[in-house]
Amino acid sequence: MDGNGRWAKTRGLPRIFGHRAGADAVRRTVEASCELGIPALTLYAFSWENWDRPHDEIHELMGLLEEFLRREEPLLHKYRVQLKAIGRLEGLPENAAKALQQTIARTAHLDHMILTLALSYGGRQEIVDAARRLAELVHAGRLVPEQIDEALFSQQLYTAGLPDPDLIIRTSGEQRLSNFLLWQTSYAEFYVTPKPWPEFTKADLLDAIAEFERRDRRFGKAAAPAGAAG
Ligand code: FPP
Repeated sequence: MDGNGRWAKTRGLPRIFGHRAGADAVRRTVEASCELGIPALTLYAFSWENWDRPHDEIHELMGLLEEFLRREEPLLHKYRVQLKAIGRLEGLPENAAKALQQTIARTAHLDHMILTLALSYGGRQEIVDAARRLAELVHAGRLVPEQIDEALFSQQLYTAGLPDPDLIIRTSGEQRLSNFLLWQTSYAEFYVTPKPWPEFTKADLLDAIAEFERRDRRFGKAAAPAGAAG
């Protein structure tokens, strides 16, 4: 969800105003995704590297997360959205962590869409954590290295049980992954919009999906011969 800071700067406002407008865009995007029948939406809300931002900005972002969870939980129930979170969540401040765990518990039975918030998240850190857990299992004699394959590795990631993303939408014109879902995006399609996140609307989501539908996804295989079925 990139471009909050720049959106605020062009309006002569402090960065937090951009993050607040970004939280409104989160609400719009969750609603739009539910209406469109998207089964899983993952939002990159706070990266592992974001801990290096100024203390005040981190504090404001964590406050905003807490406020968002309290304010928008009725929306999650209305659209039957199950909330999940991925990342090194043990590093979150107590209040934000508590609000998060409460909303996760209260929405665990909802089944229309899974909304995953990536918080204190880094793709490299996720892979390191998975490797550590596998090493521990081997060390404890519960696994032999030969048993480790892609499926088993995936089960150790924070995203275990979630589908790999089909489409990655990047706002604000940035053309990089920024440590997001490094393992899971191996065959994801990319869509980059110049719009900053606070301006992202349902129409932009529809544009991204329309572009996605035009892509020829081959997953490394050869293109089907002309006229072939499927
Ligand atoms: C990156 O843009 C955005 C973030 C680090 C924070 C994203 C947070 C929100 C959208 C609001 C809170 C989230 C939830 C789930 C309620 P940037 O600030 O780096 O923008 P810039 O690159 O233009 O400076």
